Amino acid sequence: MLVLGIDTSCDETSAGIVRDGREILANRVSSQVALHRPFGGVVPEIASRSHLRRLLPVLEDAFREARVRPRDLDAVAATCRPGLIGALLVGLSGAKALAWRLGVPFLGVDHIQAHLHAAVMTDPDLPFPCVSLIASGGHTSLFYMERPGKGLRMGRTLDDAAGEVLDKAAALLGLGYPGGPALEEAASLADRPAHPPFPVPLKGRKDFDFSFSGLKTALRVRVEKEAPLGPEEIHRLARAFQEAVMEHLARKCLAALRRTGARALALGGGVARNGFLRERLARECAGIHLSFPPLELCSDNGAMVAGLASLRLEKGEKDPLDLPAAPRTTFEEWTAS
Ligand code: KG4
Ligand code: ZN
Repeated sequence: MLVLGIDTSCDETSAGIVRDGREILANRVSSQVALHRPFGGVVPEIASRSHLRRLLPVLEDAFREARVRPRDLDAVAATCRPGLIGALLVGLSGAKALAWRLGVPFLGVDHIQAHLHAAVMTDPDLPFPCVSLIASGGHTSLFYMERPGKGLRMGRTLDDAAGEVLDKAAALLGLGYPGGPALEEAASLADRPAHPPFPVPLKGRKDFDFSFSGLKTALRVRVEKEAPLGPEEIHRLARAFQEAVMEHLARKCLAALRRTGARALALGGGVARNGFLRERLARECAGIHLSFPPLELCSDNGAMVAGLASLRLEKGEKDPLDLPAAPRTTFEEWTAS
């Protein structure tokens, strides 16, 4: 079973070709980071136009890399939600057109479900149920995964997404864009974190929600108060800030494991690339199966879309060619039993 997956939900034009749900034959990503860098964030109109220009070359590259022809495909899938509507429509329309031309099923996939699926695809031993954290530039949620393809939301951010706040913090510190990797790099150069530490958000709460906007304000106030900052202070602030964000994410993951009794934890989304977060969780998770997908499968990519679509295709599912794009995701909520 050969499935093509396309993702154009944000600022990466990506296409992946997957055999039998797991074997990644190609996973091409054309990043628009350089286009959006001057603006310090993704500009929706620029993203849509750039997807239009890039989609066909990226598809050609994917077919070449996978050494397959379009007519070998059994299905074509694309992200249909959540994301920037103009950007989503490019990949979605391309996928529908190709599926129609080839006479094969079309499937529209939820981007967050696809991030959840990256760990399932790359870790055949992942036991269920498991807890899964998806943290990216647009989303930060914690899930209870009953089985592959079935995630119930335990909590979500009440304000900014984790990646969004890292991007804003890096901009405040003059560290460049995207902020997550820039902040991680700067933090690695610090001899110690800045003192006093940033407070870990929502510490006393027993639910599984996140909040990052207070941290962002705390950093802004500190940068203004301590200006002008030398490189050493910037590195120390980056380290302290990263520690607070990752500590917040890690504590909620650990609390969710305790609460549900799940014996496995999976990560996904661009922030899951963070080395500090991975090490922090590994230290605390003795006896827990940890599933950290390869870095390229944490960020937006087409292979995770193809993987999730393969699972649905196996069950005989497909979607109509008039399936709309949607800006938001919908999930069933987890409730304590
Ligand atoms: O999942 P993703 O590629 O796109 C979205 O769906 O948003 O995530 C992008 C986010 C950006 O905010 C970026 O700063 C963050 O992931 N990111 C990181 C790292 N690499 C990317 N955050 C922390 N540490 C990293 N190493
Ligand atoms: Zn994403």
